[in-house]
Amino acid sequence: AEKKGRVEFRDVTFKYPGAEAPVLSNISFTAEPGKTLAIIGSTGAGKTTLVSLLPRLYDVASGDVLLDGVPVTEMDASEITSRVSAVPQKPYLFSGTIEHNLRFGKPDATDEELWDALETAQAKGFVEEKSSGLNRRIAQGGTNVSGGQRQRLSIARALVTKPNVYLFDDSFSALDVATDARLRKALKGKTKDATVIIVAQRVSTIADADEILVLDNGRIVDRGTHDELLETSPTYQEIVES
Ligand code: GTP
Ligand code: MG
Repeated sequence: AEKKGRVEFRDVTFKYPGAEAPVLSNISFTAEPGKTLAIIGSTGAGKTTLVSLLPRLYDVASGDVLLDGVPVTEMDASEITSRVSAVPQKPYLFSGTIEHNLRFGKPDATDEELWDALETAQAKGFVEEKSSGLNRRIAQGGTNVSGGQRQRLSIARALVTKPNVYLFDDSFSALDVATDARLRKALKGKTKDATVIIVAQRVSTIADADEILVLDNGRIVDRGTHDELLETSPTYQEIVES
């Protein structure tokens, strides 16, 4: 069967409600199942805004966001959430157990699926270290776990749903470089058939992506592989050197 999860942005322009100027202008790209698309750019470039348009946190002003050829504006919320898992830049954990947090998108997941997701997300040791295990309580907002643990639990939660599309918004930034590399290697094995879109700050996180979009001031200024961009993109070179 054909793989699902093709994401296409067609000439997308977006303004926040009440704002004068668009935050995104003329954004066009395609992300394919089995591939990793990365988005990099300075703070305020519009990366988080861009990835929020697929799960319809906002709707576009003009242009189209399509999932397997269907505009997301024609899909209902439950269909989108079952097919697209977003790990937000500021991941939220609920007050309740780790298990409760992990099952959020898939209440009928088995314990084995939860542990498998935790292992991939490099969070298994953290959950095992207390005898309460999956029943460990998370405080509201996840304030009793570190930022890196919040990110990893949020990644595990996304994995549990086995979506067609993963969106990782700066999800690896709180991890040390070695854990980041381990996690992404494990992820690769688990997301082979899915479309993976990664927003990153560190070039090392995305150097092996199939395509990288360089976003600046709401526009895609350059695109290509890491090696291509090193040759062709002054903006990318600046990020590499920063
Ligand atoms: P970093 O996460 O800091 O790297 O930035 P980003 O590239 O994710 O930028 P983001 O998409 O968050 O913001 C793009 C622009 O939109 C910035 O000028 C923000 O100030 C603006 N912006 C972000 N969120 C909102 C919002 O909820 N309302 C309004 N009016 N503007 C927003
Ligand atoms: Mg952001």
